[in-house]
Amino acid sequence: MADSPISHHSGGGDKQSQDDAASSEERAQMEQAYQQMQRKLRITKLDEEIKHKIMVLSGKGGVGKSTVATGLALSLARRGMKVGLMDIDITGPNVPKMLGLDDAELNVEDGQIFPAIGPHGVRVISMAFLIEDPDKPVIWRGPIKLGAIQQFIGDVAWGELDALIVDFPPGTSDEPLTVSQNLPGIDGVVIVTTPQEVALLDSRKSINFAKTLSVPVLGVVENMSGYTIRGTAEPNSQVSVMGPNGTPIEANTGEDGNWSLTLDIFKSGGGALAAAELQVPFLGALPFDPGIVRGGDDGVHRIVAEPDGDTAVAFDAIVDNVLSTLEDSTGPPVRIT
Ligand SMILES: Nc1ncnc2c1ncn2[C@@H]1O[C@H](COP(=O)(O)OP(=O)(O)OP(=O)(O)O)[C@@H](O)[C@H]1O
Ligand SMILES: [Mg+2]
Repeated sequence: MADSPISHHSGGGDKQSQDDAASSEERAQMEQAYQQMQRKLRITKLDEEIKHKIMVLSGKGGVGKSTVATGLALSLARRGMKVGLMDIDITGPNVPKMLGLDDAELNVEDGQIFPAIGPHGVRVISMAFLIEDPDKPVIWRGPIKLGAIQQFIGDVAWGELDALIVDFPPGTSDEPLTVSQNLPGIDGVVIVTTPQEVALLDSRKSINFAKTLSVPVLGVVENMSGYTIRGTAEPNSQVSVMGPNGTPIEANTGEDGNWSLTLDIFKSGGGALAAAELQVPFLGALPFDPGIVRGGDDGVHRIVAEPDGDTAVAFDAIVDNVLSTLEDSTGPPVRIT
């Protein structure tokens, strides 16, 4: 059995008579076998109890996996769904910070771990809750990581959920493999990418990775897409703004004099292009939004801070696409095996 970073204290039995019957080593082994069996049972039940299980992956780091994972969770939850969020990133577990949960502590009762409750009731479990000093780098040996992931899956009292979102560290590490081997009935992978041309390469890597995991690809999300600027000028006039590539871009004002322009800071369309070339659905684009960075720092997620803002609306559109893919009776359009 893999090492366990969270120890269980199960009650039980007449200790004295157990001492008589078995040595402490035998008792430890029995306890371990019992825990293992309980976990197996719970994992088997997870498939029924959690309707949809979605992994969020990207080819490289820093493209916004955690932003997308938390956004998907909140957007699903604010439409009344019961949602869980599992943050498996040991090196940089920033999901709790993004949801204002960095002071949360895990409750362990009867061998079950109770998730922290975030905005809109999202149930959150994160490697961050296990780390004592957030300033110290965490180096866990493979078996410890494996044990932690198995506990996150099998020992957490998730309860009935409509959806469980899983956030991962960057790249093609062994965490997604462990999750795909331990979590039954994964619906698929959402791949996060940025608009640059290299995104195609990264997305292809992620799609091939999903293939090696035998998990379907639900689609691609383009993050840090255009940045929208707005202003007011003379009604029914034209406004000219210098675009990021040095050429002017024009906008027309309406009757009210308002204008808006979306600047493609990092180019645009990389996500849609990648999705088309790789023949997977394009789920939508998220705007470049400095408020996302602020939200990550002050712990108030963009969807919570501005429920009708551009980012929240973009997440809703992405979630609509994810849900229609999931609820399509023929199953996800791309099942790679
Ligand atoms: N659409 C966006 N607009 C502006 N900033 C963003 C956007 N998406 C993410 N960011 C910022 O980019 C940084 C990286 O985002 P995030 O942590 O979500 O990426 P990640 O892929 O999870 O990173 P890692 O690979 O390290 O886990 C964060 O500071 C976040 O606030
Ligand atoms: Mg992350």
